[in-house]
Amino acid sequence: MTYENLLIEKESAIAFLYVNRPKALNALNKDTLLEMKDAIASISNDPEIDVLIITGAGEKAFVAGADIAYMQNLTAIEGREFGALGQEVFGMIEAMEKPVIAAVNGFALGGGCELAMCCDFRIASTKAKFGQPEVGLGITPGFGGTQRLPRLVGAGMAKQLLFTADVINAAEALRIGLVNEVVNPEDLIARVKEIAGKICSKGKLAVRLAKVAANEGMQTDIDRAMTIEADLFGLCFSTEDQKEGMTAFIEKRSPLFVGK
Ligand code: CAA
Repeated sequence: MTYENLLIEKESAIAFLYVNRPKALNALNKDTLLEMKDAIASISNDPEIDVLIITGAGEKAFVAGADIAYMQNLTAIEGREFGALGQEVFGMIEAMEKPVIAAVNGFALGGGCELAMCCDFRIASTKAKFGQPEVGLGITPGFGGTQRLPRLVGAGMAKQLLFTADVINAAEALRIGLVNEVVNPEDLIARVKEIAGKICSKGKLAVRLAKVAANEGMQTDIDRAMTIEADLFGLCFSTEDQKEGMTAFIEKRSPLFVGK
């Protein structure tokens, strides 16, 4: 599939997905979501890629939301379908076994904040702005915002943001735990690449299983979650990477992981 609204770049084991509609501040219309669905499936299946970085093209925006012009005249049925498509694509990103990092370079509003939240974690530039402005448009968030925001920052803070439509800056996003780090705009991609590179240097099966354990464990009670962890911990001992990682430690050398 050729993409009109995305740019995909690859650099060693790291893939970059740029949402690329800068004239509309990278707003997500149906075509963009369908392209993302294709791109996520293809990156998930690409054996050369271990980490995905999602960011926005241009100077101003990560993603300024779902496309308001596209949504303006939707019927209830079409609105439901559009929300379900966004949820499906963001669910694919969350469920990808490969880690996904959001490099939030500017406005991350509405569907943009929701896109950042379905990634494993978020690194922001000082220019980033976050918010769920939907109630100001007479709608609720529809791509997971009412569910992921409370899970990330707690119910009280999430509800304040959801009900007021307030837009917060990167420092406030850091304070409430929505992002992990804030860096200067010119350093954002380098810093995210540095983190991605560190992840790539580890045992990739172990990284993926750690993601599965964290994601699945957070959706269930603690006893079941511990069983999930025990099972996946046990599974690691069937891998060459476990043998290599522990042998390298004992032999006081760096491990050479093969991802098997
Ligand atoms: N949808 C469609 N177009 C958008 C857009 C969006 N979400 N956000 C920005 N644009 C367009 C503008 O219409 C404008 O287009 P034109 O040049 O053709 O007029 C262009 O991008 C530049 O935007 P502005 O001129 O508004 O730029 P600004 O710097 O003055 O303001 C902004 C930036 C504060 C982000 C402002 O654009 C804005 O408020 N955007 C909307 C943010 C929003 O409400 N997002 C939530 C959408 S609803 C949603 O996401 C639902 C969901 O959960 C699924």
